[in-house]
Amino acid sequence: MPRIRVGVLDSGVGGLTVVRSLIQRRAPFEILYFGDNANMPYGNRTSGEIVGLAKRMLDFLAARGIQAAAVACNTIAPIVDRLEPAFPFPILDIVKPAAEQLARRGEPEIGLFATEFTVYSGMHAWIAHAINPDLTIHGVSSRHLAALIDASPWDEAAIRAEINSMVDAMRVHRAVRTILLGCTHYPIVQDMFEEAAPEMEFLDPADLQADALLSLFEGNEGLAADGTDDDGPVLDIFTTGNPAVFQPVLERLGIGAPRSLQIVPRS
Ligand code: DGL
Repeated sequence: MPRIRVGVLDSGVGGLTVVRSLIQRRAPFEILYFGDNANMPYGNRTSGEIVGLAKRMLDFLAARGIQAAAVACNTIAPIVDRLEPAFPFPILDIVKPAAEQLARRGEPEIGLFATEFTVYSGMHAWIAHAINPDLTIHGVSSRHLAALIDASPWDEAAIRAEINSMVDAMRVHRAVRTILLGCTHYPIVQDMFEEAAPEMEFLDPADLQADALLSLFEGNEGLAADGTDDDGPVLDIFTTGNPAVFQPVLERLGIGAPRSLQIVPRS
């Protein structure tokens, strides 16, 4: 049974958290992963820059015949509607399912850790409020954390210091007990968030996007009733940056060696 070719894209290594979820689900996909590591962090950029960079990634993946794309990057999510008309396949953003889940949790106040662009877009709030107008989402942004995680080697002390300062800023909102990790880089260091704030519950939206991607192909011939296939996915990685940043993150996430890891020229 040939696997379904899908694209997963992010500014860097963060989207591998969604790849991990797809592997755990044994999704019958040939995953073409694009990490634009040379141009990250996207979260400190303008919307015009993000549109141009994300379009370039999607053009690259479209030329390789993907049937759907999972934008595994919260920072790109607010501009996905500007990209959709240019492509003949579905493009999934990671914010929508996460925001809907927040709205349904029934907690009056929830925290959001994300990049500056994501927090200031207000996208989580406007989606959640359509379902639950009483929910308050408190956003705390970082200009540095994603880039610290997308580096090789890691400066772990700097990562922990940044996490501590984000947690301190969130603790001002005393009612918050749950924090969405609204940047796909952050769940890579979820253990460090949990050590910094053991009283908080941290949510990783990767499973929600993996399920949304699988559900696009529900009922396809050859897929089991749960949408999976015993062979599981294969993974080809394309990066505009330093390929050395991938190995430690793949290991940390328990993802085996990819079939290939290729460098593509940066724009
Ligand atoms: N991983 C990306 C996200 O989910 C952002 C990292 C960046 O700023 O480039 O928002």
